[in-house]
Amino acid sequence: MEIRIYKDYEILSQSTADEIIETVKKNPTATLCLASGDTPRLAYSMTAKAALANSIDFSRCTFVALDEWMGIAPDNEGSCQYFLRHYLFDHLDIPESNLHFFNALSSDARDECKKMNDAIQQKGGIDLMIVGIGMNGHVGFNEPGQSFQQYAHVVDLDETSKVVGQKYFRETTQLSKGLTLGLQHMLEAKKVLLIASGLKKAGIIKKTIEDEVGPNIPATSIRTHINGYVMLDEDAASHLAGRSDR
Ligand code: GLP
Repeated sequence: MEIRIYKDYEILSQSTADEIIETVKKNPTATLCLASGDTPRLAYSMTAKAALANSIDFSRCTFVALDEWMGIAPDNEGSCQYFLRHYLFDHLDIPESNLHFFNALSSDARDECKKMNDAIQQKGGIDLMIVGIGMNGHVGFNEPGQSFQQYAHVVDLDETSKVVGQKYFRETTQLSKGLTLGLQHMLEAKKVLLIASGLKKAGIIKKTIEDEVGPNIPATSIRTHINGYVMLDEDAASHLAGRSDR
Protein backbone atom coordinates (compact mmCIF):
# COMPACT_ATOMS: atom_id res chain seq x y z
CA MET A 1 0.00 0.00 0.00
CA GLU A 2 1.23 3.47 -0.81
CA ILE A 3 -0.05 6.83 0.39
CA ARG A 4 -0.25 9.67 -2.12
CA ILE A 5 -1.03 13.17 -0.95
CA TYR A 6 -2.33 15.89 -3.28
CA LYS A 7 -2.58 19.61 -2.66
CA ASP A 8 -6.35 19.84 -2.89
CA TYR A 9 -9.56 18.09 -3.93
CA GLU A 10 -9.25 19.20 -7.54
CA ILE A 11 -5.78 17.71 -8.00
CA LEU A 12 -6.81 14.53 -6.16
CA SER A 13 -9.80 14.27 -8.51
CA GLN A 14 -7.67 14.88 -11.61
CA SER A 15 -5.23 12.15 -10.56
CA THR A 16 -8.11 9.75 -9.97
CA ALA A 17 -9.57 10.57 -13.39
CA ASP A 18 -6.13 10.06 -14.95
CA GLU A 19 -5.96 6.58 -13.38
CA ILE A 20 -9.33 5.67 -14.91
CA ILE A 21 -8.35 7.00 -18.33
CA GLU A 22 -4.94 5.30 -18.28
CA THR A 23 -6.51 1.97 -17.26
CA VAL A 24 -8.94 2.11 -20.19
CA LYS A 25 -6.29 3.25 -22.66
CA LYS A 26 -3.99 0.37 -21.68
CA ASN A 27 -6.76 -2.20 -21.55
CA PRO A 28 -9.91 -1.26 -23.52
CA THR A 29 -11.73 -4.31 -22.12
CA ALA A 30 -10.88 -3.53 -18.48
CA THR A 31 -13.29 -4.16 -15.62
CA LEU A 32 -13.67 -1.21 -13.29
CA CYS A 33 -15.50 -1.09 -9.98
CA LEU A 34 -16.60 2.35 -8.86
CA ALA A 35 -17.86 3.82 -5.61
CA SER A 36 -20.42 6.56 -5.50
CA GLY A 37 -20.47 9.36 -2.92
CA ASP A 38 -19.33 12.95 -2.73
CA THR A 39 -15.62 12.16 -2.95
CA PRO A 40 -15.38 10.70 -6.49
CA ARG A 41 -17.95 13.06 -8.02
CA LEU A 42 -15.46 15.49 -9.56
CA ALA A 43 -13.14 12.66 -10.68
CA TYR A 44 -16.00 11.09 -12.65
CA SER A 45 -16.98 14.40 -14.25
CA MET A 46 -13.34 14.94 -15.22
CA THR A 47 -13.17 11.40 -16.61
CA ALA A 48 -16.26 11.94 -18.75
CA LYS A 49 -14.87 15.25 -20.02
CA ALA A 50 -11.45 13.76 -20.86
CA ALA A 51 -13.01 10.73 -22.55
CA LEU A 52 -15.09 12.97 -24.81
CA ALA A 53 -12.28 15.44 -25.53
CA ASN A 54 -9.80 12.70 -26.42
CA SER A 55 -12.23 10.22 -28.01
CA ILE A 56 -11.34 7.47 -25.56
CA ASP A 57 -13.38 4.37 -26.21
CA PHE A 58 -15.10 3.02 -23.09
CA SER A 59 -17.53 0.85 -25.04
CA ARG A 60 -15.74 -2.44 -24.38
CA CYS A 61 -15.11 -1.83 -20.67
CA THR A 62 -17.21 -3.39 -17.95
CA PHE A 63 -18.33 -1.37 -14.95
CA VAL A 64 -19.47 -2.75 -11.63
CA ALA A 65 -21.10 -0.56 -9.00
CA LEU A 66 -19.56 -0.99 -5.58
CA ASP A 67 -22.71 -0.82 -3.51
CA GLU A 68 -26.35 0.23 -3.24
CA TRP A 69 -28.93 1.19 -0.64
CA MET A 70 -31.43 -1.64 -0.31
CA GLY A 71 -34.97 -0.65 -1.30
CA ILE A 72 -33.95 2.57 -3.06
CA ALA A 73 -35.09 2.79 -6.70
CA PRO A 74 -32.54 3.58 -9.42
CA ASP A 75 -34.37 6.78 -10.38
CA ASN A 76 -33.96 8.13 -6.85
CA GLU A 77 -31.21 10.77 -6.97
CA GLY A 78 -29.73 9.36 -3.78
CA SER A 79 -29.18 5.89 -5.23
CA CYS A 80 -25.68 4.81 -6.17
CA GLN A 81 -26.93 3.78 -9.60
CA TYR A 82 -28.39 7.22 -10.32
CA PHE A 83 -25.15 8.84 -9.23
CA LEU A 84 -22.89 6.71 -11.43
CA ARG A 85 -25.12 7.13 -14.46
CA HIS A 86 -25.51 10.87 -13.95
CA TYR A 87 -21.84 11.73 -13.43
CA LEU A 88 -20.20 9.14 -15.67
CA PHE A 89 -22.05 6.46 -17.62
CA ASP A 90 -24.60 8.78 -19.27
CA HIS A 91 -21.68 10.65 -20.87
CA LEU A 92 -19.88 7.61 -22.24
CA ASP A 93 -20.96 5.24 -24.93
CA ILE A 94 -21.18 2.01 -22.91
CA PRO A 95 -23.63 -0.76 -23.80
CA GLU A 96 -26.08 -1.41 -20.98
CA SER A 97 -24.96 -5.05 -20.87
CA ASN A 98 -21.52 -3.85 -19.71
CA LEU A 99 -22.96 -2.04 -16.67
CA HIS A 100 -23.61 -4.03 -13.51
CA PHE A 101 -25.61 -2.63 -10.62
CA PHE A 102 -27.21 -4.23 -7.60
CA ASN A 103 -30.97 -4.28 -8.14
CA ALA A 104 -31.95 -2.80 -4.80
CA LEU A 105 -35.64 -3.54 -5.38
CA SER A 106 -35.12 -7.27 -5.92
CA SER A 107 -37.01 -9.61 -3.61
CA ASP A 108 -33.99 -11.92 -3.71
CA ALA A 109 -31.01 -9.95 -2.47
CA ARG A 110 -28.81 -13.03 -2.22
CA ASP A 111 -29.38 -13.70 -5.89
CA GLU A 112 -28.37 -10.09 -6.64
CA CYS A 113 -25.13 -10.70 -4.78
CA LYS A 114 -24.53 -13.92 -6.68
CA LYS A 115 -25.10 -12.12 -10.00
CA MET A 116 -22.47 -9.51 -9.06
CA ASN A 117 -19.99 -12.16 -7.94
CA ASP A 118 -20.54 -14.12 -11.17
CA ALA A 119 -20.20 -11.02 -13.38
CA ILE A 120 -16.85 -10.16 -11.76
CA GLN A 121 -15.61 -13.73 -11.92
CA GLN A 122 -16.56 -14.06 -15.59
CA LYS A 123 -14.44 -11.01 -16.35
CA GLY A 124 -11.48 -12.52 -14.50
CA GLY A 125 -11.66 -10.05 -11.61
CA ILE A 126 -11.53 -6.29 -11.21
CA ASP A 127 -8.71 -4.37 -12.91
CA LEU A 128 -9.25 -1.05 -11.16
CA MET A 129 -11.36 -0.48 -8.07
CA ILE A 130 -12.07 2.99 -6.73
CA VAL A 131 -13.46 3.19 -3.22
CA GLY A 132 -14.21 5.94 -0.75
CA ILE A 133 -14.23 5.70 3.02
CA GLY A 134 -17.16 6.17 5.37
CA MET A 135 -16.89 8.26 8.54
CA ASN A 136 -16.79 4.95 10.46
CA GLY A 137 -14.12 3.44 8.21
CA HIS A 138 -16.49 1.48 6.01
CA VAL A 139 -15.61 0.63 2.43
CA GLY A 140 -18.63 0.20 0.19
CA PHE A 141 -21.03 -1.03 2.86
CA ASN A 142 -18.51 -3.25 4.59
CA GLU A 143 -19.28 -1.94 8.04
CA PRO A 144 -17.05 -2.19 11.13
CA GLY A 145 -16.89 -5.74 12.47
CA GLN A 146 -17.33 -7.53 9.16
CA SER A 147 -14.93 -10.14 7.88
CA PHE A 148 -12.34 -9.23 5.23
CA GLN A 149 -13.07 -12.52 3.49
CA GLN A 150 -16.54 -11.81 2.09
CA TYR A 151 -17.63 -11.31 -1.51
CA ALA A 152 -20.94 -9.53 -2.34
CA HIS A 153 -23.37 -9.58 0.54
CA VAL A 154 -26.28 -7.85 2.27
CA VAL A 155 -25.46 -5.67 5.26
CA ASP A 156 -27.36 -4.22 8.19
CA LEU A 157 -26.21 -0.63 8.04
CA ASP A 158 -24.35 0.90 10.93
CA GLU A 159 -26.05 3.84 12.68
CA THR A 160 -23.35 6.18 11.33
CA SER A 161 -24.05 5.11 7.75
CA LYS A 162 -27.82 5.60 8.18
CA VAL A 163 -27.32 9.12 9.51
CA VAL A 164 -24.48 10.23 7.19
CA GLY A 165 -26.26 8.64 4.21
CA GLN A 166 -29.13 11.13 4.51
CA LYS A 167 -26.91 13.69 2.76
CA TYR A 168 -27.48 11.96 -0.58
CA PHE A 169 -31.29 12.23 -0.42
CA ARG A 170 -33.64 15.16 -0.97
CA GLU A 171 -35.89 14.06 1.90
CA THR A 172 -35.41 11.99 5.03
CA THR A 173 -35.14 8.40 3.85
CA GLN A 174 -35.43 5.14 5.74
CA LEU A 175 -32.09 3.38 5.29
CA SER A 176 -31.59 0.03 6.95
CA LYS A 177 -29.67 -2.34 4.70
CA GLY A 178 -27.10 -2.15 1.97
CA LEU A 179 -25.87 -4.37 -0.84
CA THR A 180 -22.14 -4.31 -1.31
CA LEU A 181 -19.17 -6.00 -2.88
CA GLY A 182 -17.00 -7.55 -0.20
CA LEU A 183 -13.53 -6.67 0.98
CA GLN A 184 -12.33 -9.89 -0.61
CA HIS A 185 -13.19 -8.31 -3.98
CA MET A 186 -11.01 -5.36 -3.04
CA LEU A 187 -8.15 -7.55 -1.88
CA GLU A 188 -8.30 -9.50 -5.17
CA ALA A 189 -8.59 -6.42 -7.42
CA LYS A 190 -5.46 -5.78 -9.49
CA LYS A 191 -5.30 -2.16 -8.38
CA VAL A 192 -7.24 -0.28 -5.70
CA LEU A 193 -7.49 3.45 -5.06
CA LEU A 194 -9.02 4.56 -1.78
CA ILE A 195 -9.74 8.27 -2.07
CA ALA A 196 -10.57 10.71 0.70
CA SER A 197 -10.92 14.45 0.84
CA GLY A 198 -11.49 17.10 3.47
CA LEU A 199 -10.84 17.69 7.15
CA LYS A 200 -13.89 15.65 8.14
CA LYS A 201 -12.11 12.51 6.90
CA ALA A 202 -8.78 13.29 8.63
CA GLY A 203 -9.63 11.39 11.84
CA ILE A 204 -10.75 8.16 10.16
CA ILE A 205 -7.82 8.35 7.72
CA LYS A 206 -5.39 8.57 10.63
CA LYS A 207 -6.99 5.44 12.16
CA THR A 208 -6.97 3.66 8.80
CA ILE A 209 -3.24 4.23 8.38
CA GLU A 210 -2.01 4.08 11.96
CA ASP A 211 -4.30 1.70 13.90
CA GLU A 212 -4.00 -2.07 13.84
CA VAL A 213 -5.25 -3.74 10.64
CA GLY A 214 -8.55 -5.46 11.43
CA PRO A 215 -12.33 -5.53 10.99
CA ASN A 216 -12.95 -2.68 13.46
CA ILE A 217 -11.88 -0.37 10.66
CA PRO A 218 -12.67 -2.12 7.36
CA ALA A 219 -10.58 0.37 5.36
CA THR A 220 -7.40 -0.90 7.09
CA SER A 221 -7.69 -3.92 4.78
CA ILE A 222 -6.17 -1.85 1.95
CA ARG A 223 -2.87 -1.87 3.86
CA THR A 224 -2.50 -5.55 2.98
CA HIS A 225 -2.95 -4.89 -0.76
CA ILE A 226 0.28 -4.88 -2.75
CA ASN A 227 -1.18 -2.55 -5.37
CA GLY A 228 -3.33 -0.41 -3.09
CA TYR A 229 -3.09 3.39 -3.02
CA VAL A 230 -4.60 5.68 -0.41
CA MET A 231 -5.05 8.97 -2.26
CA LEU A 232 -5.66 11.98 -0.04
CA ASP A 233 -5.86 15.71 -0.28
CA GLU A 234 -3.84 17.71 2.25
CA ASP A 235 -6.85 18.16 4.53
CA ALA A 236 -7.67 14.44 4.73
CA ALA A 237 -3.98 13.71 5.37
CA SER A 238 -3.57 16.45 7.98
CA HIS A 239 -3.85 14.25 11.09
CA LEU A 240 -1.35 11.64 9.95
CA ALA A 241 1.76 11.31 12.11
CA GLY A 242 4.42 13.72 10.93
CA ARG A 243 1.91 16.00 9.21
CA SER A 244 -0.27 17.22 12.08
CA ASP A 245 2.39 19.74 13.15
CA ARG A 246 2.54 21.43 9.73
C1 GLP B 1 -21.06 5.86 1.32
C2 GLP B 1 -20.91 4.68 0.36
C3 GLP B 1 -19.48 4.43 0.03
C4 GLP B 1 -18.77 5.74 -0.05
C5 GLP B 1 -18.64 6.28 1.35
C6 GLP B 1 -18.05 7.67 1.42
O1 GLP B 1 -22.05 5.63 2.26
N1 GLP B 1 -21.50 3.47 0.82
O2 GLP B 1 -19.36 3.69 -1.16
O3 GLP B 1 -17.50 5.57 -0.61
O4 GLP B 1 -19.89 6.22 2.02
O5 GLP B 1 -18.90 8.62 0.86
P1 GLP B 1 -18.51 10.13 0.60
O6 GLP B 1 -17.54 10.13 -0.52
O7 GLP B 1 -19.81 10.80 0.25
O8 GLP B 1 -17.90 10.64 1.86
